[in-house]
Amino acid sequence: MRRLMVAGNWKMHGSRANNAQLVNHILLADLGEDGPEVVVCPPFVYLWETGRLLRGTSLALGAQDVCAAAAGAHTGEVSAAMLKDVGCSHVIVGHSERRALYGEDDQIVARKFMAAQREGLMPVLCVGETLEERESGRTAEVVARQLDVVLDVAGAGVFARAVLAYEPVWAIGTGKNATPDQAQEVHALLRARIAAQDAKISACLRILYGGSVKAVNAAELFAMPDVDGGLVGGASLNGDEFRRICEAARAQAS
Ligand code: PGA
Repeated sequence: MRRLMVAGNWKMHGSRANNAQLVNHILLADLGEDGPEVVVCPPFVYLWETGRLLRGTSLALGAQDVCAAAAGAHTGEVSAAMLKDVGCSHVIVGHSERRALYGEDDQIVARKFMAAQREGLMPVLCVGETLEERESGRTAEVVARQLDVVLDVAGAGVFARAVLAYEPVWAIGTGKNATPDQAQEVHALLRARIAAQDAKISACLRILYGGSVKAVNAAELFAMPDVDGGLVGGASLNGDEFRRICEAARAQAS
């Protein structure tokens, strides 16, 4: 019922030449009619050009961040309207690297989420616990808090036009992915939390798993009932790996 999604978060990697090669490689993926929605998220400066490379294909363009403000004196920032203007349909908000390295708290993440939606962009809201939080048994509490800040401000209705991504911080870029059972447990918990407000919206919401997704583990993660695809960092920079992850999602869908 839920169409799987695979999103590639290129982070601060790439060059014009590399991006073109990477996109050409991804386009070789056999996604079929019922395949996953595939989104690539390059750095801001490459959005326009990457968008042109994707034109006429089934791949969508996403940004990695957005400013919470609509316009004005915000040196260095990029608004949701600008992202829309250069062809983005999606934007990642609340990635743990933004939270940890750039001081983004739950409130600013919620404002970014709303700013994206106001412009008709689909926010991909990231939540996830650190290793210390997991080891002290606080995973459920942490991801619930990160989700609730949006639910409290805007209600469950906004998740009709959003995607959620569970990204345990300890799994990001470490090569140590959550096991399918660990992912499923948290995904189910997140879905139940939204279902408590709106069962229909919760049933349709895509919840992606992110954190060391690779071609070798994608199929078993995507096979879990509440895992609706992946948000892929490192492996999205390797055309062959990313293509195989997209194909694993396709195999799951059919
Ligand atoms: P990773 O990153 O796949 O390199 O672990 C995932 C992410 O940060 O979205």
